[in-house]
Amino acid sequence: MLSYRHAFHAGNHADVLKHAVLVFMLDYYNQKDKPYWFIDTHAGAGRYQLNTGFAAKNAEHETGIGRLQTRDDMPEMLRRYVALAREDAAFYPGSPLIAWKLSRPQGKLWLFELHPTDVSLLRDTFARGGRRVQIQQADGFAGLKALLPPSPRRALIFIDPPYEVKDDYRYVVTALKDALQRFATGTYAVWYPKLQRPEIRAMLENLKKLPCKDWLNVALDIHAPNPDGYGMHGSGLFILNPPWTLHAALRETLPWMVETLGGEGAGYELESGN
Ligand SMILES: C[S@@+](CC[C@H](N)C(=O)[O-])C[C@H]1O[C@@H](n2cnc3c(N)ncnc32)[C@H](O)[C@@H]1O
Repeated sequence: MLSYRHAFHAGNHADVLKHAVLVFMLDYYNQKDKPYWFIDTHAGAGRYQLNTGFAAKNAEHETGIGRLQTRDDMPEMLRRYVALAREDAAFYPGSPLIAWKLSRPQGKLWLFELHPTDVSLLRDTFARGGRRVQIQQADGFAGLKALLPPSPRRALIFIDPPYEVKDDYRYVVTALKDALQRFATGTYAVWYPKLQRPEIRAMLENLKKLPCKDWLNVALDIHAPNPDGYGMHGSGLFILNPPWTLHAALRETLPWMVETLGGEGAGYELESGN
């Protein structure tokens, strides 16, 4: 089943959290003058037009990045993200394009995408990417397994499944268990939706038990869970081996995000451990 199209959701509250953290992590990786790989197991189309087509239909970006642009009191993490996301007025950048803009030219981007339309759009996005960008129409979990350990021994891995199938919650844990055995020191970021589903709680509990040095879990609820139990009320990122500076940056940023993006019952979670 491949009905999910990220274009409907580009620039929404979940993208704001996901991409602001991604920008922060790439900036952190760039502090060392050494190449690294960026591996995106679920890459999407790479970039999205917000004012036409799918993204204009529900206009989810208006209550996401749209709310940030009108403010001049943004915390630094968001200021940096908005500046990057707005570099090109015609397109909102997805995770592959953000990584392309920020990562080191000596490093490589490995992008996996299964949807035939989105992989073709992704190829258009990187038509001039050259050998630095490797795009495969393949399952990202299997692709990750084949790539680890990375030859530069530094890698940022972004795992952003649509969770259209419940199995994705299990696949994430299995993939990370295997990935840590192959490459224990990578930074692995997993996006997840906040839904009232037991699978999400189970996935987070299992991720916390994985043998890694540090983990960080951040979630932003934009409203209280719906009384009927349906619908997404927020999103989160679970990060293995996060930059050590990320916790403090998020502590500064999250209250502002709740106030700006949230409604009744909005809130955040920020926890870490090892
Ligand atoms: C949430 S979107 C990705 C958004 C992107 N990471 C970003 O932040 O811009 C998830 C994508 O995963 C793709 N997909 C679903 N299952 C996949 C799989 N097993 N392997 C690779 N891609 C998959 C979907 O077609 C969809 O485009």
